[in-house]
Amino acid sequence: MEFQPPRGTDDLLPPVSDAMLGLYEAAHRTARLYGFRYVETPTFEHTELFARTSGETSDVVTKEMYTFEDKGGRSLTLRPEQTASIVRAYLAHAHDLPTPFKAYHVSQQFRHGRPQAGRLREFRQFGVETIGSAAPPADVEVIVAGDRFLRGRGLRQVELRVNSIGDAECRPAYREKLIAYLEPHQAELDEDCRTRLRTNPLRVFDCKVDGQTPLVLGAPLISENLCQACGEHFAAVRNGLDAASVAFVHDPRLVRGLDYYTRTTFEFVSQALAQAQAALGGGGRYDGLAEVLGGAPTPGIGFALGLDRILMALREEGATLPGELGIACFVVSIGDEASRVGARLVGDLRDAGIPAAAAFEERPLKAQLKMADRSGAAYAVILGEREVATGTATMKPLGDGDQEEIPIGDVVNWLSRTDWAAER
Ligand code: HAM
Repeated sequence: MEFQPPRGTDDLLPPVSDAMLGLYEAAHRTARLYGFRYVETPTFEHTELFARTSGETSDVVTKEMYTFEDKGGRSLTLRPEQTASIVRAYLAHAHDLPTPFKAYHVSQQFRHGRPQAGRLREFRQFGVETIGSAAPPADVEVIVAGDRFLRGRGLRQVELRVNSIGDAECRPAYREKLIAYLEPHQAELDEDCRTRLRTNPLRVFDCKVDGQTPLVLGAPLISENLCQACGEHFAAVRNGLDAASVAFVHDPRLVRGLDYYTRTTFEFVSQALAQAQAALGGGGRYDGLAEVLGGAPTPGIGFALGLDRILMALREEGATLPGELGIACFVVSIGDEASRVGARLVGDLRDAGIPAAAAFEERPLKAQLKMADRSGAAYAVILGEREVATGTATMKPLGDGDQEEIPIGDVVNWLSRTDWAAER
């Protein structure tokens, strides 16, 4: 039996799992601060849901879906992203939900790409979606919430890039203009870029090989070809971000890898990570998505942030990682009487809401201290024969600091000086 998990997946274990849990908790706090409600949708969906919404030509659909047939012969796919699922769930239950419906998720996604640093086959996202409003303040709120989450974690080297990619009114004409500009130069483009020109021309700006050539850099820009309504919407979003004091750059070549976007698109890019993994998250408006699924026209906007990449960026920037979630103390007892006193103390500590643990079997002092150390506890509370005889406990910090002997009746109070819950 192989002990390693499948390629492109990770076991999250302490202390990395503590840091990830810290991000989850921060995600829940941030989302609720803005009034987003927690949702969960199935891990797998009918394949058609993603094939229709992400775009037949997107990398996600053409190369990266985990698709399988179930016993009933239906084609199912592990979700590569959450937006399509949340909109589907909204359409299924719209009459029971408020408008706009503000949802958030913290969940695993699955994409069968080539695994590399920052590119996993199972990865974690925190995302929000505001479904049912086309108004620019909805865009602003979503972007500001994402920005707050990232900066609140201590990230400083993050650039917010914003663009508008138009809508059904102005994009078709722009698309033709772009094709007319690039087509005469087809021979100069590499194969990937030529395919994009045929299937999804806006994505030539994203080409690995040719994206930065003078030819592509000289191409007409969507933001200079927006219809009046899209232009006004984009201006209102930019003004809203200014009013919220959120710094951003307008990146007129920002196009996203999923097909459902209209109008506002944005990305949070880490300047501390290599380009292939620098996108910490992104999102945008998807005003046509509900209709693609056969629902009533329902505008929406949201983001997803890649939590695995955010941990990488925090490490790279040397920021403090969300704290280790060790226990407050590990009670070390030597001898029968001490073990009884120790067991009672562990119970009292837990009753007082102070995380505590102890060995299950009698072990020598040194072995128990090692267990205490490895448990991630802040203190070892030592109960030896002398302590039991004098009714005391030795409080030994497992980090820096000197040990202290205190009356055993004071241990609970002494440890409650620290708010262990807040420490997390
Ligand atoms: P996305 O850009 O495909 O958007 O993914 C969002 C983030 O998830 C990326 O910026 C990246 O940080 C992370 N991510 C994507 N693929 C991987 C991977 N293979 N390994 C590790 N991290 C990854 C969406 O998923 C849209 N649903 C966002 C959205 C919400 N748009 C509107 N609402």
